[in-house]
Amino acid sequence: MYSSFAASSSTENLLPSRSQDHQYSPPEECAHRAPCPGLNTLANHNYIPRSGTGITFLNLISAVAKVYNLSLPLTLLLALPGFIIYGRFNFPSCLPWTWSYTVDLADLASFGPYKIAHPASLVHPNYPSHAPDPDLLFDFLSFARSHGQAEGSPSSPISCTLIKDLPSPSPPPSALSTSPLQPSAIRPVITSGLSLFDFAQLRIARESQLSKPLNTLHEQIALGESALTWLVFHQTGPSLSDKAGACAPPDHVDNDLIVPVDRLVSWFGEEKLPDRWFEDVRPQNTIGLLQARRVAGQIQKDTEILQWRKEASKV
Ligand code: HEM
Repeated sequence: MYSSFAASSSTENLLPSRSQDHQYSPPEECAHRAPCPGLNTLANHNYIPRSGTGITFLNLISAVAKVYNLSLPLTLLLALPGFIIYGRFNFPSCLPWTWSYTVDLADLASFGPYKIAHPASLVHPNYPSHAPDPDLLFDFLSFARSHGQAEGSPSSPISCTLIKDLPSPSPPPSALSTSPLQPSAIRPVITSGLSLFDFAQLRIARESQLSKPLNTLHEQIALGESALTWLVFHQTGPSLSDKAGACAPPDHVDNDLIVPVDRLVSWFGEEKLPDRWFEDVRPQNTIGLLQARRVAGQIQKDTEILQWRKEASKV
């Protein structure tokens, strides 16, 4: 079992060793799975037990930090609530060294005001779920396939597309004055996939299907899930603003960067790490808590702008 812990951006000691089998294998029938592609993928690659049961805290945080290259504070923020809410003590004998505190993935599927699962997941239905829902997955991937196709801007030779069905009045004063946000809907993107603005659209689409809005906790969790997905899987390389010679501030969130569709298919659909994960795809720099917070905030601002436009189009 994979156990050493260190959040490192080096890939040297991350490549599967001969003694550890981290080949992808879909879950066996009796295995536990969660409504979380992040954790199910770790189980399908044996970074946490393939059975999805008896996962210890150290095993989980070492796997999350190493596989996705998340910082220790961010990993703890994700893992601690999971263990507090769903953890259970095991006392197989009266010998203290046999005692453990573990989680089983299937327990994470339960719903409730203080549970993590919520009814506006991107690919999981509104009831306890252990695998992506085929219809939601299809809609999600179709949306991703139809978005992000290169469509120009002043700095690009290709023509410009605005997101369909959205009126485009001036942004509300609050959005203009408080934020450097420029929705990627009116900016160029490179290939088929999801930008931050696309994630905002998806969030609105899912939440508009609910009979009552998400509570604040679940709203923040949902934003955090989209932010993490974008941070871990977006393509790297020079962004369009870099090409234009702009000097980005350190806390800049680049709306141009998208998560390519093939990564979404692999991770959300098969719950599998994209090919050549450690060599080419895994984030090169460790993703931190503040960075995740900033990106979630950006998606939230995008959703507010979209809502505002929707309201404005009704009057
Ligand atoms: C480390 C401990 C973690 C725990 C306890 C956890 C738990 C959960 C739970 C309970 C859900 C269901 C919420 C819902 O209804 O949408 C969920 C969803 C999700 N998780 Fe995790 N997660 C963890 C780590 C991660 C990591 C590391 C990632 C990304 C790299 C991730 C990405 C996601 C995404 C994208 C969803 C939403 C899936 C959807 O919308 O269909 N999670 N997680």
